[in-house]
Amino acid sequence: MKAIAILTSGGDAPGMNAGIRATVRTALASGLSVYGVKRGYQGLIEDSISPMCSKDVSNILQRGGTILHSARSEEFRTEEGRIKAAANLNKRRIDGLVVFGGDGSFRGANDLQREFGIRVIGVPSTIDNDIWGSDFTIGFDTAVNTALEAIDKVRDTAAAHDRLFIVEVMGRHAGFIALEVGIGAGAEEILIPETVTDIPAICRKVKSRLETGKTSSILVVAEGDEEGNAYEIAQKIEAHSGLKSRVTVLGHVQRGGSPTASDRMLATKLGYAAVQALLDDAAPCMVGVEDGLISRHPLADAWTRKKELDKLLVKLSSGLE
Ligand code: F6P
Repeated sequence: MKAIAILTSGGDAPGMNAGIRATVRTALASGLSVYGVKRGYQGLIEDSISPMCSKDVSNILQRGGTILHSARSEEFRTEEGRIKAAANLNKRRIDGLVVFGGDGSFRGANDLQREFGIRVIGVPSTIDNDIWGSDFTIGFDTAVNTALEAIDKVRDTAAAHDRLFIVEVMGRHAGFIALEVGIGAGAEEILIPETVTDIPAICRKVKSRLETGKTSSILVVAEGDEEGNAYEIAQKIEAHSGLKSRVTVLGHVQRGGSPTASDRMLATKLGYAAVQALLDDAAPCMVGVEDGLISRHPLADAWTRKKELDKLLVKLSSGLE
């Protein structure tokens, strides 16, 4: 192994920069040349690849977003696109690639490895935390804290006006963010795709709380809930019970901001672990942290295995309201 490249792909996640920094500096300290790829796989196809030195990653640890930029590339899904991408790596004799992203990004990495023999390591980075093989993904903790801070503020105005609020958090296919945010914010109900959302039961509970003098409520809903997004849930609740609500969609605000201490530590450990895996000649894999220890799993586990929600948190998601 003589030269490696780094790219960030899919939705950005706070802590990606800390991960890039750790990867670059660990690789340079190990005598490797390092290249940065701009705009994920699209940049690989378009040859947006430049050498990186230690100074290029100065003063980025605390910044959200990704200095390498990110993209979702359609062209990379085609064989022609991947041929161009591999050629751009080969002409620089880059033999290892570190990919920060989610399961879609790891599929792309796996294709590069399978078709062209490029050694790839995936670093789980998505605010959704929905990747099997790592207890946490880079960005999740920051997103949860950002959402919590926002909901604490919503709580003030909900209480002042005796209102029902429905707050939507991110999580296209998974309720990890909603579950932690809902519990942390003391939400009266938490609606996630992994559990059945029972609109009539929710209406009954909100009404019975009103009768006992609880005049405001907050429902936290994951954007991927099977009953729909926050606006759809609000309509269903009103149609069923006449209860009116206000909707707040937190959206992309959850993807930005300075990473928390946990995300900085996680990203730094995983950036280091990715380089170690390349130096060890490990088979293409995803690095993760499980029970506090660095782990390696085949990339395909990221999309073939389903990460389960913490059962205790699911239990706590009702009954504490
Ligand atoms: O990165 C994950 C995520 O933030 C999901 O929670 C969300 O559904 C999706 O990305 C939004 O993607 P985009 O920024 O491309 O609209």
